[in-house]
Amino acid sequence: MTWQNFYVGDGTPRDVDLGDPPPWRSFPRPALHREFQPPPGLVKAVNAALVLRRPLLVTGAAGSGKSTVIEQVAQELKLGDVLRWHITSRSTLKEALYRYDALGRIHAQRLAGPDGGDDIAPFLQLGPLGTALLPVEHPRALLIDEIDKSDLDLPSDLLDVLERGEFEIPELARYARDVVTVREWGGDASAPAHSPVENGFVRCTSFPFIVMTSNGERDFPAAFLRRCIRFTMPKPSVEELRKVVEAHLKIDGGTRRSRAIDPLIQTFVERLAAGESLAVDQLLNAAHLLTGGGTLAGADRQEVLDLVLRELSRA
Ligand SMILES: Nc1ncnc2c1ncn2[C@@H]1O[C@H](COP(=O)(O)OP(=O)(O)O)[C@@H](O)[C@H]1O
Ligand SMILES: [Mg+2]
Repeated sequence: MTWQNFYVGDGTPRDVDLGDPPPWRSFPRPALHREFQPPPGLVKAVNAALVLRRPLLVTGAAGSGKSTVIEQVAQELKLGDVLRWHITSRSTLKEALYRYDALGRIHAQRLAGPDGGDDIAPFLQLGPLGTALLPVEHPRALLIDEIDKSDLDLPSDLLDVLERGEFEIPELARYARDVVTVREWGGDASAPAHSPVENGFVRCTSFPFIVMTSNGERDFPAAFLRRCIRFTMPKPSVEELRKVVEAHLKIDGGTRRSRAIDPLIQTFVERLAAGESLAVDQLLNAAHLLTGGGTLAGADRQEVLDLVLRELSRA
């Protein structure tokens, strides 16, 4: 199989077999906890955050593995499925705590008529942060991804909730029943988990393990930083990257296949040292193309490698 069998640009329909995808691009997405190789210092930072019950703020370049750290911690410590909150400039603290569908409830009340029951539970769902703060014996794992993309006030508002470890759902505080069973965030869609909420208050009993990630695009207030354990992803060495590539491509160390990627890793590390912005993802792509059955030769090969290893600061 060569690339010549795929798209050629002549408009003639043909049947193609693209072969197996790279292991990290198969779907449903595989968990990456076994492949992740913690950089030096990360293990200590994670353990400090765990012991001190503080969030871990991980800063680093795009593709340096920030969002993957928590997958490994959650697996190793059996913290359950990672609760994920992906931050954008429109993210609000409230949506991370809970969501309430007021219109849906009004609609249901109308349909049921004056004698019909009024159940608020189907119109409430805890968000990722709200679910992480549920009273449980074993802490959950919560990823607050790309917090540097948030609106300016969000970090301080978040800190306030994390300091207190509790929040109120006003709609429930006003509700007739004392205990309402509310749907949790994430989990199995066919059998969603529910938890009782008493008098509209959610109070954490085991502080969750929280990783917040940042590309370092902005500074955070000192009050915020003071309450986090901070870790910056270091620039990886050749040796570390070789382990990463071997783990993802399932190559044994010291073999011919492993040595075949050495020049690639060398170049990658030199370009990083020269200040270029490149992600581990890109290295994995290049390594897959190089070791994936000799589909690329000569000039074609260099051209495609240049394509996947293009600097990130250029679009
Ligand atoms: N230290 C590492 N060990 C194994 N894989 C890594 C490592 N660093 C990055 N990767 C891989 O690179 C890709 C990008 O990582 P990701 O966590 O999404 O980066 P970030 O969140 O920093 O942008 C993922 O496929 C991840 O598995
Ligand atoms: Mg990320």
